[in-house]
Amino acid sequence: MNNGPPPLFVIFGASGDLTSLKLIPALFRLHLKKRLPEGTRIVGVSRTPFTDDAFREKLADRIQSAAGKAWDRGAWDRFAPSIHYLGADATRPEELRNLETQLQALDGKGPSLCGRVYYLSISPTLYEKVVRGLGEAGMAREIGSCWRRIVIEKPFGTDRSSARSLNRVVHEAFQERQVFRIDHYLGKETVQNLLVFRFASAIFEPIWNRNYIDHVQITVAERVKVGGRGAYYDHAGVLRDMFQNHLMQLLALVAMEAPSRFEADALRNEKIKVLESIRPFHPEEIGRRLVRGQYESYLREKGVAAGSRTSTYAALRWDIDNWRWQGVPFYLRSGKALARRVSEIVIQFRHPPHLLFDIPEGQEMTGNRLVLGIQPDEGVHLKFQTKVPDQGMAIQDSDLEFHFREGRPDQ
Ligand code: BG6
Repeated sequence: MNNGPPPLFVIFGASGDLTSLKLIPALFRLHLKKRLPEGTRIVGVSRTPFTDDAFREKLADRIQSAAGKAWDRGAWDRFAPSIHYLGADATRPEELRNLETQLQALDGKGPSLCGRVYYLSISPTLYEKVVRGLGEAGMAREIGSCWRRIVIEKPFGTDRSSARSLNRVVHEAFQERQVFRIDHYLGKETVQNLLVFRFASAIFEPIWNRNYIDHVQITVAERVKVGGRGAYYDHAGVLRDMFQNHLMQLLALVAMEAPSRFEADALRNEKIKVLESIRPFHPEEIGRRLVRGQYESYLREKGVAAGSRTSTYAALRWDIDNWRWQGVPFYLRSGKALARRVSEIVIQFRHPPHLLFDIPEGQEMTGNRLVLGIQPDEGVHLKFQTKVPDQGMAIQDSDLEFHFREGRPDQ
């Protein structure tokens, strides 16, 4: 994105929390790291009326309270003029046409803008309407080198047919290469590190299979509750909110074969092979393979339907029917309002075929275990057994550790 004229980010649904808590802070950090092309502009769009200044101040308040002592007013004041606000109801085609005219008029206020990213930070129920409107208003059309991209978050439909229908609508307006269906887990350093860990070193690959691995556990446990997102969450539940996106991406990265190149299509093709190999559940097996739960105060959350049975916790077992993973269960679990925030992948290796040493009473032999910590412990642990010094042949669990915070080049 660093070549050519600066891009314009258009955020639909800009008055919502995602914009002030995640999107603008992320763009602000990129600005601080000098990774946004000079002249980049951001336009927030939603129905609530704001002036540019009022919108900037609202963002500043939220970002300041999240940043605490790290808040740098001077840096924000240099960044804020790149943010604009335009009031429009993006579900109405005539308002989108008007918006297009206003976006073009922004060119007069600085270096000419050319590439555009449309970020849909709106209710998923509005995706089809807004995407169709963008197409009809000519906003998806690329002219010369002036590219257009659209970013769509989960949930992408609620089942197979609604996902296909949304895809059809998206493809009527945009070409596939313009579309980014994103999963923010793939932006995490620790998740990207999974690829490096597996494919940049050779020592684990020979044992990364059913011959040496007993089972795999993927956990994303959160302490937070649904907060102000009850209305959305009550329709999604933990399976759509966390499993079909974040946990399945983690599963795919752990289980896939090495792609032929580090390129989007090559990676995607390998991930699809894993997903296609997951053994489907038969309805009569659900009770044995899936556990669901709901935290105690969930029904009192704002926006949650009375008597709702939406799950806020789920744990399930999947089997992958391919040569590498036959017979290795994958246990996935995630939930809100849990005792601890921890996201990690545990690779449990098989026990040695025969144990020479006595295990002290009450102690369990855990075997080798590789823990890939995603958050808050960002790192890698390899657990193995060692001798307890001066205790005969008593053995204990020991740990080789790597922490990301120690691996940063600036430390
Ligand atoms: C989002 C879910 O995609 O991921 C939220 O909608 C969840 O419910 C969040 O809290 C977790 O993300 P992170 O980055 O905090 O692990």
